[in-house]
Amino acid sequence: MEHKGTVKIETERLILRRFEESDIEPSYRNWTSSEKVTEFLRWLPHDSVEETERVLKIWINNYEKPNFYQWAIVPLELGEPIGTISVVGMKEKCDTVHIGYCIGEAWWHKGYTSEALAAVIPFFFENVKAGRIESQHDPNNPNSGKVMAKCGLKYEGTLRKSDWSNKGIVDACMYALLAEDYNN
Ligand SMILES: CC(C)(COP(=O)(O)OP(=O)(O)OC[C@H]1O[C@@H](n2cnc3c(N)ncnc32)[C@H](O)[C@@H]1OP(=O)(O)O)[C@@H](O)C(=O)NCCC(=O)NCCS
Repeated sequence: MEHKGTVKIETERLILRRFEESDIEPSYRNWTSSEKVTEFLRWLPHDSVEETERVLKIWINNYEKPNFYQWAIVPLELGEPIGTISVVGMKEKCDTVHIGYCIGEAWWHKGYTSEALAAVIPFFFENVKAGRIESQHDPNNPNSGKVMAKCGLKYEGTLRKSDWSNKGIVDACMYALLAEDYNN
């Protein structure tokens, strides 16, 4: 792959951009402190803004690496981050990126995550030259799979007890889109 790092991407309603230190408080307020958001994730809700500060500072330091992808999802009309979309796993030898995302519950079911994923797909295929974009979700969290399907990722099967989260050891529904399918 030809890594480009977390570059700014604009969509109709969103800006996807790097986190900045001024995002710490709104990130805590909008999603990192939420038990609903973290239900199927691997991290627990932050119980202080200092925890969000620690995490965002790690991300901000990582932006110097060209293979680090962690975007703040910022609705234009709000002007502050409501969540994040990122590469949570990468198989360099297979030209594969594994995408994860989450947004605060106040913004669920408004099409924002689908709009964000739909925007990073062309970036990874056309700019980064990825061959496979994949993502997976817990079968008990089907709305995440709907985001994947809406963006053209194909369901490949459910891997039994192959993942872990705050729920324990869980099944994983695997979705992916290949460059050859995207280009045809
Ligand atoms: C899962 C999650 C990312 C979905 O994000 P979202 O921005 O609400 O998703 P979208 O609005 O783009 O919805 C995509 C599709 O999912 C379905 N959907 C999403 N939220 C829904 C809801 N609350 N009720 C019913 N259907 C819903 C719809 O089919 C929707 O398509 P439509 O808009 O054409 O009806 C969001 O709920 C979230 O951040 N959850 C917590 C973190 C998480 O679970 N991340 C994924 C881990 S694998």
